[in-house]
Amino acid sequence: MAMAANNNDKVSIVGAGNVGAMLAQRLLEHDLSDVVLVDIDEGLSRGKACDLQDASPIIGCEKEVIGTSDYSIIEGSDIVVITAGLPRKPGMTREDLIQKNAAIIRDVASQVRKFAPQSIVIVVTNPLDIMAFLAYKLLGFEANKVLGMAGVLDSARCSNIAAEELGIARTEIDSVVIGSHDTNMVPLLRFSQAQGTALDSILDNEKKASLTEKVKRRGAEIVSLLKSGSAFFAPSAACFSMIKSILKNEHLTQCASVLLNGEYGLRDIFIGVPVVLGRTGIEKIIELELTRKEREKLKNAADAIKKSVISLNIQP
Ligand code: LAC
Repeated sequence: MAMAANNNDKVSIVGAGNVGAMLAQRLLEHDLSDVVLVDIDEGLSRGKACDLQDASPIIGCEKEVIGTSDYSIIEGSDIVVITAGLPRKPGMTREDLIQKNAAIIRDVASQVRKFAPQSIVIVVTNPLDIMAFLAYKLLGFEANKVLGMAGVLDSARCSNIAAEELGIARTEIDSVVIGSHDTNMVPLLRFSQAQGTALDSILDNEKKASLTEKVKRRGAEIVSLLKSGSAFFAPSAACFSMIKSILKNEHLTQCASVLLNGEYGLRDIFIGVPVVLGRTGIEKIIELELTRKEREKLKNAADAIKKSVISLNIQP
């Protein structure tokens, strides 16, 4: 079942659920990389891989996709994306979710460390910033090679909602959302631009507050509409865009959850900030000049993340 030897880039996706499978589809439709879909449910990953590969002659894809429950197939991956994890179910506390998904991340990280020690790892599992930190600690990889996906997603949501409000093209808005991937996220409207002008100066206070609130609640809004499961079209698109920046060495600035080491006055924490992504992973952390109020919001998000991390009692 091994992948044919070739010079293609290789992306392994752990978790063949909606985000994982949709991400595989995006990678194949862009003919970007070979894909390994890993899931404890081997039938699920193999079934989806067969189905995805069957589409290749139609979509013009020459890349290979393999579904497996065997982690050894991820060997040689350029990027490993971790999507495995439970979504929050009704009645489940945030603490329950943390403990359950932490157990999954512990298992996955030990496999990635063993079979793909040279890879760049993108964590998607929630609670995002906490799971990314845990993965980083357990992997023992350099800090520039571990990141969490969320800032691209939250920024896209901000742009989309702002575009609807303003009646302008969605692609004409470029948003910046930092902080944690939960209600403590910090949409930075001063740094978000619509056709070159900051959203902060286009929208009145009421509209700014409403936009910020909608962006913060978008994930939960989708969960409650779907009734089972959570968003996957935009999350997979966000992941795809980060992977493309890395594999194509685009040096693009995107928001992601990364380890801070003094930037923004924070250290030993994963939290969303703008970074430059290229073939080596995180090439640079961009430190925006924040106001006192913005800094306070980021600090609040950081304090909440730190509190949750303590509950994990991480022993690398
Ligand atoms: C979201 C969840 C899945 O924001 O993190 O949609």
